[in-house]
Amino acid sequence: MCGIVGYVGDRNAYPILIKGLHRLEYRGYDSAGFALVGKNGELNVYKCKGKVSALENFVEGKDVEGSCGIAHTRWATHGEPNSVNAHPHYSCTENIALIHNGIIENWALLKKALIREGYEFKSETDTEVLVNLIEYVRNTNKCSLLDAVRGALKQVIGAYAIAVVEKGREDEIIVARQSSPLVVGIGEGEYFLASDATPIVEYTDKVVYLQDGEIAVLTKNKPLRVVNFDNAECPIDVKKLEMNISELEKGGYKHFMLKEIHEQPKTIMDCLRGRLSPDSYDVILSGVRDNAYRFLSARRIIIVACGTSWHASLIGEHLIEDLCRIPVEVEYASEFRYRNPVLSPEDVVIAVSQSGETADTLAAMSLAKAAGCFVFGICNVIGSSVARASDAGCYIHVGPEISVASTKAFTGQVTVFAMIALTLANTLTRISRDRFEQLSKALLDLPALVQAELDTLDAPIKELAEKFKDSRDFIYIGRGYEFPVALEGALKLKEVSYIHADGYPAAEMKHGPIALIDKTMPVLAIAIPDALYEKTASNVQEVKARGGVVISVVSNDDEMVSKMSDYAIRVPVTDPCLMPVLVSIPLQLFAYYIADAKGLDVDQPRNLAKSVTVE
Ligand code: M6R
Repeated sequence: MCGIVGYVGDRNAYPILIKGLHRLEYRGYDSAGFALVGKNGELNVYKCKGKVSALENFVEGKDVEGSCGIAHTRWATHGEPNSVNAHPHYSCTENIALIHNGIIENWALLKKALIREGYEFKSETDTEVLVNLIEYVRNTNKCSLLDAVRGALKQVIGAYAIAVVEKGREDEIIVARQSSPLVVGIGEGEYFLASDATPIVEYTDKVVYLQDGEIAVLTKNKPLRVVNFDNAECPIDVKKLEMNISELEKGGYKHFMLKEIHEQPKTIMDCLRGRLSPDSYDVILSGVRDNAYRFLSARRIIIVACGTSWHASLIGEHLIEDLCRIPVEVEYASEFRYRNPVLSPEDVVIAVSQSGETADTLAAMSLAKAAGCFVFGICNVIGSSVARASDAGCYIHVGPEISVASTKAFTGQVTVFAMIALTLANTLTRISRDRFEQLSKALLDLPALVQAELDTLDAPIKELAEKFKDSRDFIYIGRGYEFPVALEGALKLKEVSYIHADGYPAAEMKHGPIALIDKTMPVLAIAIPDALYEKTASNVQEVKARGGVVISVVSNDDEMVSKMSDYAIRVPVTDPCLMPVLVSIPLQLFAYYIADAKGLDVDQPRNLAKSVTVE
């Protein structure tokens, strides 16, 4: 939930750290800071409340020379977001500085013990406890910094990715990971480290993804050393980084969110590429094909996810049940992990996560694995924890998603679910070859339809957003495949515009929420041509009859619901089971343009972070 970055080598570390922090700011932006070991071995920490730009202003005119440094952008867990709680944290003597992403669960106990030893604390953080514990072990055992880090981590319970520097050691950084991601980049006699590869990509394509329980010693001009907590050498698996720098820039768009919305014709195509043949219409997902017997003999499929990934999973449930007739349940990972679910080795658990680092989803996966379930991961970030913890899986391949509000990952996840459902339905012969080919073709046509929507809808939705930007509340309604889209549309609006919005199955309105309807409560109704169109139309009538203002999302040739509505957003039509992709696009644009019209920080909404690596 925080971003960490570091550099040791011959270059000036400061620009690398600041650029890296900007790339990682999506992970948290409550405060930022860095520590530098200068040429003469002096260790200086600079930190302040607020975003990375505030940190840049804060250090203006200060000495930021040094070729060994670590930096941090924070999403507050322990202690309010202020400069004292900001990372890095010094040890008591100011000889050691540490940055940390994660949570030390037994911090209170350790803190008490350190206080008894005379240690004093300035901040409310668990991180300051860890840095002092390292110093305590170092001084008590008169050992190396590596051994001190090892010794301290053996006493720690929790999740962490840490980086440690020490006064007088301008050539070395020690890093370690346990349940929080950490990537080491290997350059010529130099090393980079970061929470993900985005701060590293322009310097080197050689990376090592540290494993849980590993500590790495990054020493300038020396080979990388990785050991475990017992000091046994670990094998080093150097991977080639496949990432394009242009994907990390805004490319002329005002915000990443808008860029990512507009990227969707390409990202859906990238997701389909090499998997769905435009000639034979066959679908090949190797992770599903190679484990077909697990899916086909499954008693049921359970999907675990959070947030937007959970909404995409609800659409996955519809697709798999609809096309394959396999029972599916969708669970919030955070609930599933704690409610003692009944699981058996005949269950298949699918974990869905853009980042692949969501703590609750990872915990749900562990629970499923312990019960002997086959665990299949759907994620975006290559080499992420979900990818590594899965028995098999499938990437959505939509490229780095920087905006905190997820857009292209959602459509990528739905696309992958459609391919999984098609593969299983075909293998089980639950659908005819004609229907299979019809849906495969519809999937292949999606990118062009999304492009057509973006071309025609961007400007009118911007205008519509201007009209509704001062609304206080919103209700989104949909049925069947469109109910999860209503939930997702409402979540998008909430998180970027801070307008309260709820999603409901349209027919549920009369069981309570309709009491809210008056002329100040706009209702966004999804009424596309499917088996439930007429029924949704009646639900829209019920809202209109009570003076509600209706914005409908309807098909290009709609006649009935558009006439009842105050405003109609027209979208192209495909098979109803793929309509969630086409309907979600205008809802993403609507949320974006409302937030932008309100002058909000669209890419980094308040209180949020992109990857939620804590409970
Ligand atoms: O990386 P994940 O897909 O596991 O993240 C899950 C949620 O935290 C995420 O979808 C969140 O709800 C987004 N901010 C939604 O836009």
